[in-house]
Amino acid sequence: MDRIDRLSPFIVMDILRESQKFEDVIHMEIGEPDLDPPPGALEELNRAIRDRRYFYTPALGLMELREKVAEFYHLKYGVDVSPERVVITTGTSGAFLIAYSILMNAGDRVILPDPSYPCYKNFAHLLDISPEFIPVGKDTNYQITPEMLEEKEAKAVHVSSPANPTGSLYDRETLSSLVEKAEGMGMHFISDEIYHGLVYEVREHTALEFSDNAIVINGFSKYFCMPGFRLGWLILPQELVRKAEVVMQNVFISAPTLSQYAALGAFDYEFLQNVKKIFSERREVLYTGLKELFEIDAKPQGAFYVWANVERYSENSYEFCIKLLKEAKVAATPGIDFGRNNTDRYIRFSYTKEVPHLEEGLRRLKEYLL
Ligand SMILES: Cc1ncc(COP(=O)(O)O)c(C=O)c1O
Repeated sequence: MDRIDRLSPFIVMDILRESQKFEDVIHMEIGEPDLDPPPGALEELNRAIRDRRYFYTPALGLMELREKVAEFYHLKYGVDVSPERVVITTGTSGAFLIAYSILMNAGDRVILPDPSYPCYKNFAHLLDISPEFIPVGKDTNYQITPEMLEEKEAKAVHVSSPANPTGSLYDRETLSSLVEKAEGMGMHFISDEIYHGLVYEVREHTALEFSDNAIVINGFSKYFCMPGFRLGWLILPQELVRKAEVVMQNVFISAPTLSQYAALGAFDYEFLQNVKKIFSERREVLYTGLKELFEIDAKPQGAFYVWANVERYSENSYEFCIKLLKEAKVAATPGIDFGRNNTDRYIRFSYTKEVPHLEEGLRRLKEYLL
C-alpha cells in the first residue's frame, strides 16, 4: 500500500464542511475555543507588527518565549525546566512530527490508546512508524494502565490527558506509574498536555513531575484560545534538543514569528482562570442535558468534550451523525474518527460554544430523539 493511503481523513473536518451546507446548524463538532485570545496576546501581536517583526526567529523559538514556557512549569506545577529544553513549534501538531521523527525510525512501533486523537496515528504513518493500539474503555476510564504495557514492544507510548475524545484525566498515581513502567521498559513516554488548564474539580499533573525524560507537548490552541496562531511547544531531555533543532530548521525554519511575539502576552493567569470558568459552566449544561438522552460512561474531567454512547438509537455513529446534521441540524463528531474500539457506538459532543447555543442544541436533540 502507498504510504499516503494509510492516512485516514480527519472526519470532524468533513462534518464541519458538510455542516456549512446547511443554515442554522448548532455546532457541537468543533474542537476549538470560540473565545478571543488573551488581550495581552493581541497587544503583543500589534506591537510586533508595529516593530516590523517579519523575520524568521531562531529555529528553537524566541528565547523570551521559551523562558515564559519554562516559568509556566514552575508556577503551575512547581517543576523546574530549563528554557534550553523548550522547543517552540508550529502547533502541537508540529511538535508531534518532531517528536516522532527524532525518537523513532521506520518500522518502529508507537503505542496509542484506542480511542484517541485521530491525527497521532497519521503522524506515525507519515514516517512509516507503526501505530499499535491498546483498546481502552470505561473500565479503566479510557486510560492505558501499566499492566496493559506488559509484553508490549514499542519505542514509545503516547497519551493525552485530559484526553480527546473522552475528557478523561490521568490521576497522579496512574500517570506516575505509567511513566515509570514505560520508561522502565525502555520506551519513551510522550505526553500530550494540550488540554491542561481545562480541568474541572480535580488537578492535572504534568509527566515532567515524574520524569525528566518524559517528552511533554502542549500549546496555545485550547486553554490559551489561540488555535489559528499555530503555536505549540515541546519539552525534551537536553540531549534531544539539537536533533529537534535540526528538524525544525529543515521542515519549518521556525514557528510563525508574529504568533511567537503574541504568545509573550498570553500568560495572563487571571484571564486563563476565567477561560476555565466559562468552559466549566458549559460542561455542566451540556453534560446534564446529554445525560437525559444518552448513556454517558463518565463525567468528563477535562478538555471540552462529552463522549456519549448512542447505542440506544444507532449502531453506526457515522450514519447517526449525518442524520443528526441533516434532520436535527445538530453537528457532532462520529466516534469512528477516534479509533475502531467500539467507536461506532459513540459520538463526541463539544462545548466550545456559548451556553444558549448548547441549550438550543439540546432542545433540538430532545425534540428529534424523544
Ligand atoms: C489531543 C489533541 N492534541 C493536539 C491537537 C492539535 O492542536 P494544535 O492546534 O496545537 O496543532 C488537538 C486538536 O484538536 C487535540 O485534540
